Amino acid sequence: MSELGSLPCVKNTVSVKTITDCQGAWEGAKSAMELYEKLTAQGDHVRALKTAKAEKAEIEAAVQLLLKLKVDYKHVTGQDYKPGCPPSENCVAADNGPAADDSDDEDIVDPWNVSTKNAKGVDYDKLIVRFGSNKIDKELVDRIERLGGQKPHHYLRRGIFFSHRDVHQVLDAYEKKKSFYLYTGRGPSTQAMHVGHLVPFIFTKWLQDVFDVPLVIQMTDDEKYLWKDLTLDDCHHFAVENAKDIIACGFDVNKTFVFSDLDYMGASPEFYRNVVKAQKHVTFNQVKGIFGFTDSDCIGKISFPAIQAAPAFSNSFPQIFGTRKDVHCLVPCAIDQDPYFRMTRDVAPRIGYHKPALLHSTFFPALQGAQTKMSASNPNSSIFLTDTPKQIKNKINKHAFSGGKDTVEEHRKHGGNPEIDVSFMYLTFFLEDDEQLEKIRQDYSSGALLTGELKKILIETLQPIIAQHQERRKQITDDVVKQFMTPRPLNFKF
Ligand code: TRP
Repeated sequence: MSELGSLPCVKNTVSVKTITDCQGAWEGAKSAMELYEKLTAQGDHVRALKTAKAEKAEIEAAVQLLLKLKVDYKHVTGQDYKPGCPPSENCVAADNGPAADDSDDEDIVDPWNVSTKNAKGVDYDKLIVRFGSNKIDKELVDRIERLGGQKPHHYLRRGIFFSHRDVHQVLDAYEKKKSFYLYTGRGPSTQAMHVGHLVPFIFTKWLQDVFDVPLVIQMTDDEKYLWKDLTLDDCHHFAVENAKDIIACGFDVNKTFVFSDLDYMGASPEFYRNVVKAQKHVTFNQVKGIFGFTDSDCIGKISFPAIQAAPAFSNSFPQIFGTRKDVHCLVPCAIDQDPYFRMTRDVAPRIGYHKPALLHSTFFPALQGAQTKMSASNPNSSIFLTDTPKQIKNKINKHAFSGGKDTVEEHRKHGGNPEIDVSFMYLTFFLEDDEQLEKIRQDYSSGALLTGELKKILIETLQPIIAQHQERRKQITDDVVKQFMTPRPLNFKF
């Protein structure tokens, strides 16, 4: 959690509770959720004792209690306790928190960090098991095709959107002629968006077109203010500028509402009411377990997840849905956002709402390799939406990690490895033609296609896509943004 370390808010102090406190708490634990909370607290307590270099006997006693709680938890839930996965989500085994005892070899995936030791990238099948979500299988893709009446998007065909929660429920509703709505978002931490940032929006636009449903897009300028060293004005400005790039993906103004939290929280009492409801029903222990917050995090961060939860409840948008609180919500997002929605799904039924359904995407790899995702703060890892054709060419030629062999002779003889080759990975995102992609894969693997040639194909694929994006973005004036960002009714068929 590198960003958390740079927080100016509170000095890093460790509070060390007494053992008797915890025992008393343990004896009072009743439900699975309470046990989960006690376990999370006890895990924190053990770590705090270790950090504070407490007496050995004291640490041992605390560990014993932790183990006892784990046995109890297994007894009550039938599952092993894993930090970051409350019992109600029914994970097989989950841990996205930073504090797992045995996580050394695991991929790290949370809203702030993505990293793996594997050159092929994060092991997404394992992630599905850890997070307790479901794989998007052929049956689901076929169903989306049947209901939407369109060939599935290549992100679905190729497993770029690979995991989901409860999408069948949304489709059931749709099948019964009940509408649903889409909700996605962006944390505007910089002016410079990169191509990876577009992935969820490109897919959301496709969903909007296919299902003809309303869409809300949350710009979390408040979140970025809380997490980064930026002023409120910076964050709000980035929200509006980023909104232009998002709108340039082609969203329909009659079906899309884009909002800045800094503006909308004050403008919509209904939205704020849902934030407060969520805040009342999630404890500090829960968010600690889910997000890894510590005693030194400012309270803004601790309560922020409720603000990302609120747009998943339809009555947060009375201008679109009136007083209806039962319109199903579907959230397309990258898998690192799942912790927010695990919390949202946990709290929803307790405050009288449907759980939102989710569609999760893989990450867009950094140019240097799939061990981490593309990041706007490292210019050499990213292709920006503002890059010129020449910059695109140079960056790919210079920095895109190659799965090819060192010499032409070796490459011709043994072939390259598309599974670790970043240029090939990018083509899976941006080259729509399945047959062409498959031919490139085969030729590269056999050695018929050289790294330089593969890179050239990528460069020539990306240059026009980005040039067209820049052209569309130019048309998005401040007036157009204002239209999208004004609370108003949308086309919504009940
Ligand atoms: N927290 C997200 C980010 O930092 C922004 C966000 C808000 C979001 N609501 C969302 C992303 C819903 C996906 C879906 O980028």
